[in-house]
Amino acid sequence: MQAESKHKFYVCRRNSDKCLECGFCLENFICPGMGKATIERYETVCIDCQVCFSACPYEAVQRIIDIVPRREIKILVDGKEFLVPERITVKKALEFLGLEFGKFPNEAKIFAPCETGGCFACALLIDGEPKPACITPVHNGMEIKLELPDNFVPIRRISGFQPHPVGGVGTPWWIKQRGSYHHYIEVACFAHGCNLRCPQCQNYTITYNNITKPMTPHEAAATLTAYRNKYGVDRMAISGGEPTLNRKWLIEFFRELKRLNPDKEARFHLDTNATILTPDYVDELIEAGLTDIGPDLKGLRTETFMRITGIFDYGLAQKYLKNAWNITKYLIDNYYPEKIFVGIGIPYNPYLMSLEELREIGEKLASFDLEIQVCLLDYFPTFRRRNMKRPSPNQMKTARKVLLETGLKTVLAQTEIGHIGP
Ligand code: FES
Repeated sequence: MQAESKHKFYVCRRNSDKCLECGFCLENFICPGMGKATIERYETVCIDCQVCFSACPYEAVQRIIDIVPRREIKILVDGKEFLVPERITVKKALEFLGLEFGKFPNEAKIFAPCETGGCFACALLIDGEPKPACITPVHNGMEIKLELPDNFVPIRRISGFQPHPVGGVGTPWWIKQRGSYHHYIEVACFAHGCNLRCPQCQNYTITYNNITKPMTPHEAAATLTAYRNKYGVDRMAISGGEPTLNRKWLIEFFRELKRLNPDKEARFHLDTNATILTPDYVDELIEAGLTDIGPDLKGLRTETFMRITGIFDYGLAQKYLKNAWNITKYLIDNYYPEKIFVGIGIPYNPYLMSLEELREIGEKLASFDLEIQVCLLDYFPTFRRRNMKRPSPNQMKTARKVLLETGLKTVLAQTEIGHIGP
């Protein structure tokens, strides 16, 4: 491995014409280059981790070519010394040394799906502490170990513990119907970091937050259990961000949740974009205690998936979408309905998907199982894409009718005035 020094570098700069000084960056993330929350982007310390670039709701951060010359600094990787340019992330430094990082599990030496410091899937032992390679700046004399110790307890950022009146995609419709704003049916927590970049993300304050202190699976399971006891519900859920990005963490979380809640009434629910789940991962989750799952199917065509998720890499988008469909079929064929409950989410907005494609989605799902619960989610702009209108209840009724015409029997539609159906 040899350090590369003559590269083109980028840095992030605040575009004051677009910045509305909304305060989102000050409240939700620490600039890793500065080591503190700041609205300004200081080009002389920017490590181009791109957290601010991905997270700014008003897209008021631009990446520009850095013209300031960079010194080389020494880092130790598994005890060997290397020279790398200063002012870059550990991930970038290791890439210069020939190490590969991937956005799909096991396709590269290190899995780095969120790249915003939320999931800790890319955590390495950096100066003796587990830190995410994607947002940690290199410094002279840094010691990096590529393998975490066997007894390492996984961590990731989790927050938003709360009771919920309607549950999520993987909540059965007959339980959703029991909920109201005076009656909770589920408690939930949210995992930070996502491998997608949906411009209309409705949980972006959690997805991009890198301020919250990371939790072990045991801490998160104990907190969620305390919420269950406080609110007197049987269902415990995790959503995101994307919970599946850190596999070791999620498996331990469900094991611990089950250990703390051994009663027959307890239900353990995962809502997921399903893009990186594999059959062996699903098997392990079910063995760990998972009872309910809500995979989201963001389209049938790759172009639609790209429009919804903000993923620009066609090959990656194709792989994620194909995987989400394959794993949904795997869940239905192997576990539904005897072993687990599966409820499928389909984001709908005429701006993002045609009724024709929605019909094809319905036909494909109907060929898997006519009884499967399908929940149409009325996508509305929260994060970016503010010109997109929320679908009206009538548009959602029409979309639901299209799915019912394919033979599907259990179709719910989320609308601004509540759920319609089944
Ligand atoms: S990929 Fe680095 S924290 Fe998620």
